[in-house]
Amino acid sequence: MRYHPIDPELFQGNRQRFMRSMRQDSIAIFHSNDLMVRSGDSFFPFRQNSDLFYLSGLDQEETVLVLFPDCVKEGFREVAFIKKTNDYIQRWEGHKYTKEEARVVSGIEKVYWLDEMETILHELILLAKRVYVNLPEHDRFIPEVPSRDMRYARSLQKRYPAHKFHRAQPLLKKQAMIKSPQEVALIQRAIEITGKAFQRVLHFVKPGVAEYEIDAEITHDFIRQQANGHAYAPIIASGDNSCVLHYTRNNQICKDGQVLLLDFGAEYANYAADMTRTIPVNGQFSPRQRDVYDAVLRVLKYARAMLVPGVLMEDYNKEIGTQMENELLGLGLLDKNDIKNQEKNYPAYKKYFMHGTSHHLGLDVHDRSDRYDPIQAGMVFTCEPAIYIPEEGFGIRLENNILVTDHEPVDLMAHIPIEAREIEELMNARQLV
Ligand code: GLY
Ligand code: MN
Ligand code: MN
Repeated sequence: MRYHPIDPELFQGNRQRFMRSMRQDSIAIFHSNDLMVRSGDSFFPFRQNSDLFYLSGLDQEETVLVLFPDCVKEGFREVAFIKKTNDYIQRWEGHKYTKEEARVVSGIEKVYWLDEMETILHELILLAKRVYVNLPEHDRFIPEVPSRDMRYARSLQKRYPAHKFHRAQPLLKKQAMIKSPQEVALIQRAIEITGKAFQRVLHFVKPGVAEYEIDAEITHDFIRQQANGHAYAPIIASGDNSCVLHYTRNNQICKDGQVLLLDFGAEYANYAADMTRTIPVNGQFSPRQRDVYDAVLRVLKYARAMLVPGVLMEDYNKEIGTQMENELLGLGLLDKNDIKNQEKNYPAYKKYFMHGTSHHLGLDVHDRSDRYDPIQAGMVFTCEPAIYIPEEGFGIRLENNILVTDHEPVDLMAHIPIEAREIEELMNARQLV
């Protein structure tokens, strides 16, 4: 891990909240992510399961967390199992947690080696009537590969068919949507790293540079600032590519007169930033690019102000749709007839702005959430309006990360340049040096 140690109070608080929401006589089991094979016998870099991390801070493969709030066996409310290390593992893979280290990181007193789990867990499960299992429940993604949690849940169901099984995710989603001040600070750190990398990009971009060179500049800056790396595959999209929502090939040359859409965010201590800026490759927006840019920025400012407690996401999206419609009329991209003839379920503005304006942000870039809950203080959202005009060869998207509070929304990226004039000035100041 590259990040500074985190106060285990964060994870202790998360566990307490989760345990309070569990039903009586129930035990909950959480597994780490698998180390995933990349090719042959080599692996992708390990990324901890967000829920296991959220509840324990343990950032190592082959880790299991067990929560049993009303366990009659003394001292077994919280138990962690970690991979048993030895001289061989130390030699080949390097250092792994000792039991004491796992205690310090997580604040969990009872730490065992993983090879003791079956016996201990068997005894605990027999003391419970219900078992919470943590299955992947992203509402927009159906995974094909079964997770460790899923595999283990299947084996538990076979072994203990008379127990009642419950889903951990609905409880976790409700609580993880509300970020603690410590979590906000970690997100803010990821944002600082991202903002610094953007400064570097502003000084680097000019006609003739390749998208992958910009990618390399960002990656360099992320790593040297102790980020894990990117929180998601960065989008470095020049010209027409700026209209491809999830463009990640990043292999084209940036040309004079084009815009460059950059959607990237650092991951620090497993927390994500998610930023988008669109800049002119030559340091000067064309009048048309500038008009579209300013329209998108107005929508961002309007949307950001709506991120206050009590608002429903559905109403938020509708309202932003209306704002976007007005901007598109102003830009001559829609006319009154388009609006008059639009379908209720596919409003005309979606031709140019076809994705949502906001998603939750946290340990996952599209963070765990219940999208039907009203907005509440402590939530962190992205705000990312856009206008894509493939027929004109460019799209503009701008994205900031916003903390909802009981007062005004706090733009966690307020210090990162976004006004068109500021971007141009920064790019041109560089050229004089
Ligand atoms: N970077 C992914 C997103 O903006 O949702
Ligand atoms: Mn983004
Ligand atoms: Mn986003």
